[in-house]
Amino acid sequence: MATTSVLISEADIQQRIKTLAAEIEKAYPANEEIHLVAVLKGGFMFMADLVRAMSDRVTMDFMAVSSYGKGTTSSGQVRVLKDLDSNLEGRHVIVVEDIVDTGLTLHYLQDLLKARAPKSMKTACLLSKPSRRKVDVQVDFVGFTIEDRFVVGYGLDYAEKYRNLPYIAVLEQ
Ligand code: IMP
Ligand code: MG
Repeated sequence: MATTSVLISEADIQQRIKTLAAEIEKAYPANEEIHLVAVLKGGFMFMADLVRAMSDRVTMDFMAVSSYGKGTTSSGQVRVLKDLDSNLEGRHVIVVEDIVDTGLTLHYLQDLLKARAPKSMKTACLLSKPSRRKVDVQVDFVGFTIEDRFVVGYGLDYAEKYRNLPYIAVLEQ
């Protein structure tokens, strides 16, 4: 197994998520429901911490997608493996993603979900690698902007491993 070195510590992640949660709540009229849609599997840990830092006007759902092709780059072709149970019509929806890299996955998802007539649609991602963008995609709430490095932990995997790390790490081959 490869070794990892910490890029963003557990304490830094937790602190940033509290700020982000407050930012998100402020962006919506008081008392209006906010429906969070996490993208599995990568988004599961971020979702769990984010909703615990928010008030009881939050509801949530999960969907699973996979980009065709293995390896460390996205092909842009996205397959829905598990769709939502909930109807998005007339709701404030926030897509919760682990990381926006090329932006291809998010671009596809935004189109797909916007077609379901939500009242509003925004995106929250823990990490963003802007230097890797292939499509111009809107991300409203960003935890951390990072350089072009392959990271693992806090939901993010390499060959399905390391998702359980409570911090973000760089793999040392
Ligand atoms: P996209 O290139 O923006 O479409 O990224 C799609 C997906 O690739 C993300 O949701 C992650 O699952 C995965 N991904 C991109 N960069 C990384 C990384 O540095 N580590 C682990 N997974 C990544
Ligand atoms: Mg993802």
